[in-house]
Amino acid sequence: MALPSAILNVMANAALKAAKGLVRDFGEVEQLQVSVKGPGDFVSTADRRAERTIKSELLRVRPGYGSLFEESGAEEGTDRRHRFIVDPLDGTTNFLHGIPHFAISIALESEGEVVAGVVYDPTRDEMFWAEKGAGAFLNDHRLRVSARRHLGEAVIGTGLAARHKGEAEDQTGAFAAVTAAAGAVRQTGAAALDLAYVAAGRYDGFWQKGLSPWDMAAGIVLVREAGGYVSDLGGGREMMASGEVLAANDHLHLPLAALVKDALRAVRERKDR
Ligand code: IPD
Ligand code: CA
Ligand code: CA
Repeated sequence: MALPSAILNVMANAALKAAKGLVRDFGEVEQLQVSVKGPGDFVSTADRRAERTIKSELLRVRPGYGSLFEESGAEEGTDRRHRFIVDPLDGTTNFLHGIPHFAISIALESEGEVVAGVVYDPTRDEMFWAEKGAGAFLNDHRLRVSARRHLGEAVIGTGLAARHKGEAEDQTGAFAAVTAAAGAVRQTGAAALDLAYVAAGRYDGFWQKGLSPWDMAAGIVLVREAGGYVSDLGGGREMMASGEVLAANDHLHLPLAALVKDALRAVRERKDR
């Protein structure tokens, strides 16, 4: 794989190194499923270990950069302009249950804008990567978002954050509306991969509320560089601040956004009645 910049190489190598540990641990998790204690503690250890590996790889090369890691939080660097945003294991519930659908997500932000990202799926050895101005790729292949124009033929991804179960009613409303209008809806439990799949044209769109910056940072640059459009649920650019994201190609972004917005409004009106 020929990556365009040194920093993207560092990010991809950090992901590959941490992935080795995760793959080993995933094998162990499959054994632990049947034990009485279950794999819970083991998975949090695996998660933290992956994070330590990524952190040391990234900061060895860019010691001054700031960082935001899911497990260890935010650290300011001497370089205030750059920040890594990392989810060492996206799809933890899948991992914990022995479902082979999880990823490592590493993004680089420059002056508040995500400029590079990698999402690595160790199970399928798929490295999704993108850099602002250089395009989006899956391993060596250039990515383009799908060209579908009709929601009725589209496959749309979504998710519900575990800690946002209180919003299940909102999600059920939006889910029903999109299911009725779209070809199919998928909820597979790894938001970073969901966005990567939009970039790859596998999904025609994706929406979710309640996400954290590390779930979406790398995915945002992937979708943009693959020619797609990413916004918050109101159509604005406050994805990271709001935790909301809606990504699709140019044709489907507006209709999908309208559908989700109307469905959420209908749920709110029902609640207020
Ligand atoms: C979760 C996954 C999931 C999404 C949740 C996230 P984690 O991340 O991305 O798909 O629905 O909102 O928290 O906890 O597996 O890193
Ligand atoms: Ca995550
Ligand atoms: Ca995680």
